[in-house]
Amino acid sequence: MANRWKNTLTDRDVTDESAYLNRRQILAGTAAGLGLAGIAATQAHAEDLEATAWEDITSYCNYYEFGTRKDDPSKYAHMLTTKPWTVKIDGLVDNSGDYAFDDIMAKMTVEERIYRFRCVEAWSMVVPWNGFELADLLDLAGVQSEAKYVAFETAYRPDEMPGVRYPVIDWPYVEGLRMDEAMHPLTIMATGIYGKDIPNQNGAPLRLVVPWKYGFKSIKSVVRITLTDKEPPTAWNKANAREYGFYSNVNPTVDHPRWSQASERVLGTGLFARRQDTLMFNGYADEVASLYDGMDLTKFY
Ligand code: MTE
Repeated sequence: MANRWKNTLTDRDVTDESAYLNRRQILAGTAAGLGLAGIAATQAHAEDLEATAWEDITSYCNYYEFGTRKDDPSKYAHMLTTKPWTVKIDGLVDNSGDYAFDDIMAKMTVEERIYRFRCVEAWSMVVPWNGFELADLLDLAGVQSEAKYVAFETAYRPDEMPGVRYPVIDWPYVEGLRMDEAMHPLTIMATGIYGKDIPNQNGAPLRLVVPWKYGFKSIKSVVRITLTDKEPPTAWNKANAREYGFYSNVNPTVDHPRWSQASERVLGTGLFARRQDTLMFNGYADEVASLYDGMDLTKFY
């Protein structure tokens, strides 16, 4: 499979070299090990995506555990204790248990992935994530053959999350993927942005990123991953099944019941933001369309 989304660096990352060469990258031995300049020279702008500015990615957020306004997470998510952090992996796996975040990081290969990110609310950005493939973590846990789905759960900490006082959704935030979606090489657990540790408001210390699905599938601050043989419940589907399905693949031809999904507002392009056409599977159709062969994509999934 083409790896056009891998290790693509922008000029900005290259200039910001000190920030980029953090401990994790060096441990991972990918970008740092090969030499930053070398990668930049051969792979920069492989996809010509212009990364959204750090300030925009980290100040315009959806993380309802800290409030429903776009700037609430950047104001309040610092209250979340992210060290130490453990992820429980259980269900249909050989090695169930509590995995310390630091132990996971010591075993995973962290790469940079510059992905489009499209929220169901019809805004978009381009994020230079750092992270590892979810498949690698699932391999570590040893997925059993009966497993058909992966369920995810966000931390639920009323003392640290002022937003969970309000019953906006049925806390904790939960999400799910089909096994083939979870094992797809585009699906990552993100631990950084622009080579820095991922900020709390964006889902520290690790959050799911599934670039061909609407952003709400990309669940933040994951504390539990459960392998199961049944389609798991998902937070927004439970809250409003008519508007939010399990699959929620980006699809410009299927409108949300209350607004069009044909185009999107590009974050960080000023007060009169630029709009652009939304792409099928958010631009990743070549990689993922075959996962849905035989499914009627005009239906609301
Ligand atoms: N995860 C949790 N736990 N809580 C949330 O409110 N919001 C989702 C998703 N993951 C959300 C979440 C939505 S609607 C979007 S668009 C993305 O996170 C936003 O990610 P960002 O704030 O890093 O851009």
